[in-house]
Amino acid sequence: MSETASAPDWPAGPVLARDFAEWREAARRLIVRRVPPESIQWMQHAGDADLLSNVFGDAAAAANDAGAESAPHAAPALRMPRALMDMLACAACFRAADRWAFLYRVLWRWQRGEQEVLSMADDDGARLQAMEKAVRREEHDMHAYLRFRERPAEKGAPRFVAWFEPAHDVLPQVAQHFVRRMGRISWMIATPDATVLWDGAQLHHAAALLRGPADIEDEGEALWLTYYRSIFNPARLNADLMHSHITTRFWKHLPEAAVVPEMVTQAAAGARSTGQSKAVGRRSGTTIPVSAEKAQPEREQPRTLDECRRCELWQNATQAVGGQGPRHAKIMLVGEQPGDQEDLAGKPFVGPAGELLERAMELAGIDRRKIYITNAVKHFKWELRGKRRLHKTPAQREVLACHYWLEEELAQVGPAVVVALGSTALKSVLQDGSVNLKDYMGEPVQHEGRWVVATYHPAYALRVPDAQAREDALAAIVAALRIAWRLASA
Ligand code: URA
Repeated sequence: MSETASAPDWPAGPVLARDFAEWREAARRLIVRRVPPESIQWMQHAGDADLLSNVFGDAAAAANDAGAESAPHAAPALRMPRALMDMLACAACFRAADRWAFLYRVLWRWQRGEQEVLSMADDDGARLQAMEKAVRREEHDMHAYLRFRERPAEKGAPRFVAWFEPAHDVLPQVAQHFVRRMGRISWMIATPDATVLWDGAQLHHAAALLRGPADIEDEGEALWLTYYRSIFNPARLNADLMHSHITTRFWKHLPEAAVVPEMVTQAAAGARSTGQSKAVGRRSGTTIPVSAEKAQPEREQPRTLDECRRCELWQNATQAVGGQGPRHAKIMLVGEQPGDQEDLAGKPFVGPAGELLERAMELAGIDRRKIYITNAVKHFKWELRGKRRLHKTPAQREVLACHYWLEEELAQVGPAVVVALGSTALKSVLQDGSVNLKDYMGEPVQHEGRWVVATYHPAYALRVPDAQAREDALAAIVAALRIAWRLASA
């Protein structure tokens, strides 16, 4: 669509969008009619209608419905790529008074061919990406810091109840995460604005039901606090780090937060020195030369892959390569690390190994678009041979450092099955540097609540010299993918 012409039949005035689905429908109609962003007033709550009708008049307040019915039949159908819709849907969860107007402006510009509206170099693109990132972080934090409290068994009442105060509207997708995690156990998550209830078979959405965390009692909490006290190690206390890892607003609702100040005080007053033997401190010891880089104090965790300095691999890589695929894919494939082409493209498995993997998926009857694909290590490790950058296997400490990101992806995507492609991936997924790929080949194991299926790395199936061995390796990968698919569909 290249021209900007406001359709004469569009009654200017406020458009009601209480959620993303309503916004999308309204936005479709408006775009098709070529209504420019500046002539639309978006409103979030139905209650605003009275207020707005005073400003715009009743005809304006009725604009949504009137506009919906009067769409000209000749209007062209609106095509929006799935990836764009996913991005807008995610950003729509960001709480901002102008969110609908902003999303409409993005969509409007994109429809007019301004593809840069999705890029970081564009003001709108940068804001869109920042919103998306904040929403994903909020989802992650809610997965990590939400604490269910067990309730006495009572007919019809949920067994576990949690209180959380999300900064963005992420409750529906977080609820899906817990549906997958908790199986048939009933639970309820209450927030200041809304409530979700899982009865073991169905999810119910309701308005706010509780006034705050005080409405939840927990008899099992004393046990949890006793456990927490027993694992707390004063010798390793770093209160600043502890607080920088967990934002203050989460602390106040964590049950263990009630005992932390007391334990911190005890640690400062002496428990720390009993935790670490004084005698060890008095030993003269051996002087070990340490590089300046390693002598740095422990840093805050990076918030984005791009700023990751958890190991040294970032120094020689073009960029970090994150995973790719649907946000809630049932299957996650984990490779070793990006190769030369992936490093340049910023996407996993786009080079020769990716081609073979794609072929294996085709043979297994699996649609790549339904699979989340990532690597155990996110930066390309290489050495120069002549003019070529040759792949170098990452060291176990680099795999361990990067496990932080794999865990983030596992928490975000929540796959039912993880396929480890090769030995490095398997070691990372199982967090055990001593495992042997051949002991796990094609034999699914349960790990942290999900299936892990191990198979060859596609690069092995490319480079093994014997043609029969190459075919066998490809067949093994296909078989593992089929097993993964079956387990994910069970
Ligand atoms: N090999 C991997 O392990 N990952 C890629 O992304 C590419 C090649």
